Amino acid sequence: MDAINGTSATSATLTIGDQSWELPIRQGTIGPEVVDIGKLYGQTGLFTYDPGFTSTASCESSITYIDGDEGVLLYRGYPIEQLAESGDFLETCYLLLYGELPTAAQKADFDYRVTRHTMVHEQMSRFFHGFRRDAHPMAVLVASVGALSAFYHDSIDIADPQQRMIASIRMIAKIPTLAAMAYKYSIGQPFVYPKNDLDYASNFLRMCFSVPCEDYKVNPILSRAIDRIFILHADHEQNASTSTVRLAGSSGANPFACIAAGIACLWGPAHGGANEAALKMLGEIGSVERIPEYIKRAKDKNDPFRLMGFGHRVYKNYDPRAKIMQKTCHEVLGELGIKDDPLLDIAVELERIALQDEYFVERKLYPNIDFYSGITLRALGFPTSMFTVLFALARTVGWIGQWKEMIEDPGQRIGRPRQLYTGAPQRDYVPIARRK
Ligand code: CMC
Repeated sequence: MDAINGTSATSATLTIGDQSWELPIRQGTIGPEVVDIGKLYGQTGLFTYDPGFTSTASCESSITYIDGDEGVLLYRGYPIEQLAESGDFLETCYLLLYGELPTAAQKADFDYRVTRHTMVHEQMSRFFHGFRRDAHPMAVLVASVGALSAFYHDSIDIADPQQRMIASIRMIAKIPTLAAMAYKYSIGQPFVYPKNDLDYASNFLRMCFSVPCEDYKVNPILSRAIDRIFILHADHEQNASTSTVRLAGSSGANPFACIAAGIACLWGPAHGGANEAALKMLGEIGSVERIPEYIKRAKDKNDPFRLMGFGHRVYKNYDPRAKIMQKTCHEVLGELGIKDDPLLDIAVELERIALQDEYFVERKLYPNIDFYSGITLRALGFPTSMFTVLFALARTVGWIGQWKEMIEDPGQRIGRPRQLYTGAPQRDYVPIARRK
């Protein structure tokens, strides 16, 4: 290849031996240009090899932009800091789905449309009762979101834009109800129905923490904090779970089932499960004095231990979400009068030490969003097993927005990666009696 990013070249030349091919270079609005290899196999008989997709753009998208070197995250062009400071989650949902911030009338209409879909089919509660009480809430969420595909047959014709939008609204509206049900079931308390005169975040807190025998008053500062946490998690371009949703959806699968696939992917500790893992790690470290021991382990290649909540595939700078999360964490602890949280002390000191350590500096490993989210969510009253559920709740809009964008792309085809085959070449079947 002899074209370099930023040279404004319109094509790259691939030379193998004495043969050359011209590959088009395409430009986005911002960010790296791409070499379009869509016709490479047809022209050369070669595949490209990029496990983990570190150098591969899998699609065109106009939803979210990340500049990992500068620590920038934009939803439809708007910086995450501005949205988290001044907007609310449903406004962010509208922005991600429709591409523009809503007017006051559009916002009121959107809030109304989401709100009137917050209840789930009553039979869903019986579905929940089939689970063991000690089931992980993510297991329950994967299953219950997948089960929505069995309940809402009037919104699964993905060729119909209106049905696509109804399915999208239903998912945004019902996911807090299902998440709260997963929590209530795990602690043996009755399910709480949604209350539609509350805003999205307050309704969720109430469904999680109210009980029929007592009045529950939502604390507006805590509700604002959870709303902001939802904004921070709403989308993150082509991460593992989003790519999962797109791949599942590329076959024309039921939208609810596609989101369930995204939830399954998010569950892993390298992705959404990291907030749970980060808090567990802080607990395991236990005291500021033991930090050096864990830093040493994180750097030891023979030890599988990693600093959870540190490092990111895309951010090679401070994750902008982590900064807002850190601020939110202090606000929540302040509001709840938690003056001394030993885990926060460990986190602050761990961050300080790691950011001065050559190993982390050289590899550009900074705290990511999950580093402070666990402490915040725990202070809000959520058990660790619910952390990834909250991530899934917030990310649902991003998954849906990306799924819709994919379906609406006229060039959309089923996703079908190829491989570098390293197995046995063709050989003949040997009857069992003759095998050694
Ligand atoms: N602790 C210690 N070393 C690390 C860490 C860490 N958390 N993360 C990366 N490294 C090292 C890694 O060992 C490698 O070192 P070397 O070059 O000497 O082999 C180097 O840094 C590059 O790491 P990588 O594994 O090639 O990076 P990746 O882009 O494949 O992985 C990651 C990104 C997020 C999976 C990884 O940083 C990690 O496992 N972090 C901990 C889990 C975590 O916090 N995940 C949440 C991500 S943010 C939320 C989300 O988007 O889901």
